[in-house]
Amino acid sequence: MSEWLIQMEGIMKEFPGVLALNNCRFDLRAGEVHALMGENGAGKSTLMKILTGVYQKDAGTIEFKGQPVELSNPKAAQDAGISMIHQELNLAPDLTVAQNIFIGREPRRKLRLFLDDRALHRQVKELFERMGLDMDPSIKVSELTVAKQQMVEIAKALSYNADVLVMDEPTAALSETEIEDLFRIIRQLRESGVGIVYISHRMDEIKRITDRTTVMRDGQYIDTVSTAEVTTQDIISKMVGRQIYETSKPERTVGERETVLEVIGLNQGRTLKDINLTLKKGEILGIAGLVGAGRTELARAIFGADRIQSGEIRVHGRKVTIRGPHDAVRQGIGYLSEDRKRYGCVVDLDVKSNVAIASYGSFLRPGGWMNTTRIREQAEDMVSRLKVKTPHVGQEVKFLSGGNQQKVVIGKWLTRDCDILIFDEPTRGIDVGAKSEIYRLLNDLAAQGKSIIMISSELPEILRMSHRILVMCEGRITGELDHEEATQESIMHLATARM
Ligand SMILES: Nc1ncnc2c1ncn2[C@@H]1O[C@H](COP(=O)(O)OP(=O)(O)OP(=O)(O)O)[C@@H](O)[C@H]1O
Ligand SMILES: [Mg+2]
Repeated sequence: MSEWLIQMEGIMKEFPGVLALNNCRFDLRAGEVHALMGENGAGKSTLMKILTGVYQKDAGTIEFKGQPVELSNPKAAQDAGISMIHQELNLAPDLTVAQNIFIGREPRRKLRLFLDDRALHRQVKELFERMGLDMDPSIKVSELTVAKQQMVEIAKALSYNADVLVMDEPTAALSETEIEDLFRIIRQLRESGVGIVYISHRMDEIKRITDRTTVMRDGQYIDTVSTAEVTTQDIISKMVGRQIYETSKPERTVGERETVLEVIGLNQGRTLKDINLTLKKGEILGIAGLVGAGRTELARAIFGADRIQSGEIRVHGRKVTIRGPHDAVRQGIGYLSEDRKRYGCVVDLDVKSNVAIASYGSFLRPGGWMNTTRIREQAEDMVSRLKVKTPHVGQEVKFLSGGNQQKVVIGKWLTRDCDILIFDEPTRGIDVGAKSEIYRLLNDLAAQGKSIIMISSELPEILRMSHRILVMCEGRITGELDHEEATQESIMHLATARM
């Protein structure tokens, strides 16, 4: 038997107006974890979707265990032993966890009339035990957090006992402990001879878990290197084809400035307890904490996406009633959600409609007609400022790569021109080069006098960007740190400070 599980050669793939893959290659050995890296839109997901039968290649060959294969759909790939955990979650929200995992292949009773729920739950429980996962298989997927949904996706892929497992940004929504669980599972699989493709923009993960790294740029194969023998800088310059320089750290003193947002004594059941905060004009207020600390719940409460039980919100010193996102937007508050698919963008609409969607009012002409020319110009401006990779602004968002969809959501809130912006994990899934662009943009906004609340799980990002940092633990604010005094250690200390 050949040691190669997968050999892909000369792969071509064209979408209308986009040459997504140009003579690309990739190989995978049994028992290795192979990183696939490249900027947003480089073609990573597309290459792996071709390997897993989601897309058909225009040209090229795929060999699986030394034999040429044609994988005409995902089922054929799964049956052959090739599974993929997708970047965008693909679960059916109204079905239970167990149903989602065994969808289409549930065990049936003799009579073949009813699905055998007991057998189903038993199998899922076994699977979860192997993963060290504590979750009720009978709960509906719509009730799970993004992180838990991600774990269900992983369980589903594992349940196929695949020889080849592709993970497309599996940790984007996971907490530290969940990442450790995942890495433990990956190591077990590697031991047992499974070949794993690991796509991520997080360099520390690539260094920790992968054996080899392949870099792609603009749909082309650039290089494959042994991960241990290459520096982070090397990989990044291969990815972007140039050096990236860190922008200098901006001044981080707010001083005596006007308070634009005040939250007083906000409570919401067990998720938010006595939250008090102020946000000043031109300030970036970082909110740190572990997953589950209540950061997203706080953002949603301010934005009116969830009802609050008690407490007061003041905008520019005036008490306001926010019954829903609509009221929040009218008060000049924008919210970039961590759950892009559910709240961020309408994937069936094109780029320009998504950019304009939160600000339609400002594009109305007298008589009620939309000024479509201005919408297009505005969208084109956003596309070039944020370097969104799309053939034109009439492209439906579902055809953009994951990172580029995220940029469109950012463009939507920049267009709305809000005074207060809440960004929940703004750089999730964004490549290193585009990340520094987004940091520059946030700094520009603050300099123009906009006020920003930034929730992030990446401590270096919080430390670099925030004027002030609030740390949350179990629904409470456990401390406030100045830009000067904050360190990874001081944040972690507060993030685990139970009260
Ligand atoms: N179904 C599709 N129709 C049209 N264009 C597509 C389609 N799928 C992908 N593309 C385009 O192909 C290119 C490669 O996209 P791909 O999703 O593979 O990028 P990626 O490397 O996974 O990026 P990211 O890091 O942002 O996830 C992009 O320009 C994207 O817009
Ligand atoms: Mg992708």
